[in-house]
Amino acid sequence: MPHLAKNLSGTINHKIAQLADSQITTFNNETSKIPGIIKLTIGEPDANTPEHIKRAAIADIEKDDSHYAPEAGQPQLLTAISDYLNDSLGVDYDPAAEICVTVGATEALNVACMTLLNPGDKILVPTPVWGVYFGIIKMAGAIPVEVDTSQDDFLLTAAHLKKVLANEGKGAKAVILTDPSNPTGRVYSKQNLLELAQVITDNNLFAVTDEIYSELIYGDKKHYSLTQIIPERTLFLSGLSKSFAMTGWRIGYMAGPKELMKSVIKVNSFLITSVTDNVQAAATEALVHGAADYPVARATYGSRLKIIETGLRKCGFSMATPEGAFYIFAKIPAKFGQDDVKFAIDLANKAKVALMPGSYFGKGGQGYVRLSYAASAEDLQESIRRITDYVDSNL
Ligand SMILES: Cc1ncc(COP(=O)(O)O)c(C=O)c1O
Repeated sequence: MPHLAKNLSGTINHKIAQLADSQITTFNNETSKIPGIIKLTIGEPDANTPEHIKRAAIADIEKDDSHYAPEAGQPQLLTAISDYLNDSLGVDYDPAAEICVTVGATEALNVACMTLLNPGDKILVPTPVWGVYFGIIKMAGAIPVEVDTSQDDFLLTAAHLKKVLANEGKGAKAVILTDPSNPTGRVYSKQNLLELAQVITDNNLFAVTDEIYSELIYGDKKHYSLTQIIPERTLFLSGLSKSFAMTGWRIGYMAGPKELMKSVIKVNSFLITSVTDNVQAAATEALVHGAADYPVARATYGSRLKIIETGLRKCGFSMATPEGAFYIFAKIPAKFGQDDVKFAIDLANKAKVALMPGSYFGKGGQGYVRLSYAASAEDLQESIRRITDYVDSNL
């Protein structure tokens, strides 16, 4: 086993050396060691990829589709994405110039930051948020400015955005929105977005919008997008990981104005050349023939949400109503105090249920825990039983 030369030690890219390890991964690994634990920590659908999507990939491999794909993506998939965006949001993106296929939304986020941000640029990040954003922004040499949304039911308001732009966010170049949100499950209304769009325009910002959970919205709530309002300054990101249970396939995409996408496609090609052919074939099948898969996922998660939300509220947790994605961000009952890490560790050890400490998601998360209900109904019911016993026994 080689060891790094002593005189090379400490010489790697300082931005990388300074990146903190993911607290989420560490917590997840630690709690995995507890015998009998039920883990509601990870945002990973428990279902498998629908059969027709798998078949499309197998057929593609058997056709010997094994050569470099075009940099921006295979034309059939670009057309399928364009049609999907048109059908679902009524927006118009040219498949030949305004869409780029990526290795998941994660790579799309990296491409967005590398394309838009210079070292030292500020980007506003409403929190609590999926913590990976911070590492990606810092790898690009930019500065994430956290905007704590906890006082506004975990939604960024136009008034708050204005205030931040006049203070710690002064001179920011972009704002990133996650809608629906991981970790809070909150969803922006049309009015919210209209007001935000005005401030974004007045301050000449780019908007990066991560809509990977857009097909997972429950009840009467409807999904709207900044692309419908300010497409001229919006970089749209999404992917199929969550809606089609395709996390391991690594497939996502970006859409934006042609002038911007030229650079996006350039960065994407330097990073990955192009996305795996058979994965693109599977994604094309999902988008062209997968409309029936969404209601199945929505019905499953929607019913689980009801069970969990009711159970948690009954035993003293409170929360801003979760409306999308598959997360509940719940305030720990007051008698346990504000130390969410201590609470989550104790709960994992004593009740054998792992929930993620809220403070791992940035400012505004302290005193909360995130629960992922992308787990089986049995595990969820058993978890609620265990949490209730734990809360009751700590009277
Ligand atoms: C808000 C958000 N964006 C992006 C991703 C990553 O998506 P992908 O699997 O497409 O890289 C996740 C995964 O948890 C997420 O929660």
